[in-house]
Amino acid sequence: MKEDKVVIFDTTLRDGEQAAGAAMTKDEKLEIAKELDELGVDVIEAGFPISSPGDFEAVQAIAQDIRRPVICALAHANNAAVDRAWEAIKGAAHPRIHVFLSSSDIHLMHQLRKNREEVMDIAINNVARARRYCDDVEFSPMDATRTDPEYLYVLLSAAIEAGATTINIPDTVGYTISEEFSRLLDGIHKNVRGMDSVTLSVHCHNDLGQASANSLIAILHGARQVEGCINGLGERAGNAATEEIIMALDTRKDLFKRPTNVDTSRIYRLSRLVSDITGFPVQPNKAIVGGNAFRHASGIHQDGMIKDRRTYEIMKPESIGIPGSAIVLGKLSGRHGLLARLNEMGYQPSDSDLNRIYTAFKELADKKREVMDKDLEALMNNQRRAFTEPYKLEFAHITSGTNQTPTATVKISSPKGDITNVSTGTGSVDAMCKAINNAFQVPNKLTDFRINAITEGIDAVAEVTVRVESEGKIYTGRGTDMDTILAAAKAYVNALNRVASMEGAVTRQILGS
Ligand code: KIV
Ligand code: ZN
Repeated sequence: MKEDKVVIFDTTLRDGEQAAGAAMTKDEKLEIAKELDELGVDVIEAGFPISSPGDFEAVQAIAQDIRRPVICALAHANNAAVDRAWEAIKGAAHPRIHVFLSSSDIHLMHQLRKNREEVMDIAINNVARARRYCDDVEFSPMDATRTDPEYLYVLLSAAIEAGATTINIPDTVGYTISEEFSRLLDGIHKNVRGMDSVTLSVHCHNDLGQASANSLIAILHGARQVEGCINGLGERAGNAATEEIIMALDTRKDLFKRPTNVDTSRIYRLSRLVSDITGFPVQPNKAIVGGNAFRHASGIHQDGMIKDRRTYEIMKPESIGIPGSAIVLGKLSGRHGLLARLNEMGYQPSDSDLNRIYTAFKELADKKREVMDKDLEALMNNQRRAFTEPYKLEFAHITSGTNQTPTATVKISSPKGDITNVSTGTGSVDAMCKAINNAFQVPNKLTDFRINAITEGIDAVAEVTVRVESEGKIYTGRGTDMDTILAAAKAYVNALNRVASMEGAVTRQILGS
């Protein structure tokens, strides 16, 4: 890595997945990892292998399949976690073990119940253990920004001596402010032994809305790795948004003078993929990737834009891959037209995928006069979900109306055979969900249900997002359809597929296979 570059470390698949309700399956993580690779990030933190057998398998699969970037696995500072992390990534072309341990007195006293010397020993032993496995070791003192700086300097010096090659400073609870953070980083440069020979990294959370600003100021104070998540996903208020860091470095090259290896035109697609897979919508006013980020509503802004876009636009929508063309497809459009549009949007479907998508496109175009890019995006996402899910909604029928009890019939195909169920409910959605629930037979409670129209107009495609709780965990599902009830049914099936697949992972662990 050249000294003048900033290493982009993406942790969507680890810290991002820790967001309540953002759990992903192995295939979903692999799909996002492929897109992160295409985007050109330098490091992918693929997961936390000791946390679950499912995550171990996902990290292992990513390590084997994604060969260009560094693949990083997180480990607590304990022997079993470090061993498990190495086991998961040892097949990677460029493996990294990331060891973390709390360092603030609040954490030491109330969580670890250990003194500073004990924590120092644990850190040294586990960094050294990781280093015996792997030449690339990152160390993070958790809650660094609330740690006594004098203790932090000694701890970091010891971690470097034990073999750490990247020192990461996490603002774990999103507490610090740029000016204070800069002073801490300057202090680290000055007081930590061996700091010149390793990479300084930062990992900022967004509890006070400062994550991206803190990450950027850190670059001006010597950080050469920045950690973030796509769409700012992550614990609580999330992490610094990877796309915000990348676009700030790109748009303000004059100030930062720190190039990255990223192809910015892949940002939009990846943002939508992460949103679709996790079920976390992107807020319209979100920087870079929000639906309004490049929309100009007031007269004076529109006037300026017509005269010269630079009056109100500091980035071009095309630079992050927002489809620029206004081509609209319809029922007379053929396979070639559809493929050309999908390619322009950054999708490269295989021949068999295209066949399935074309059939779905024709069905949609028959019902809807104009098929817009957002409809195509929804189609692509629906196809991906339907293709990878073991339980599929094969048939759904609903009767409802004045003075009628809503009644739903569903047929679900599963690896064990088809299941048909009929159920009544207080409303159409309730009846449909009960019928699906009876067919699945996995313990769950529907806790959240949201409907969104993908495009404007009465014939818009409906997008439904649901959250279900099962054994203390939250799972999200999404579905789209011209018919709102069917969109709801697809979303619920999507969520229950996740519950079932996580249960499968647990069962595999119990059986030891
Ligand atoms: O926020 C944090 O402290 C973390 C560490 C594991 C790096 O995510
Ligand atoms: Zn974090």
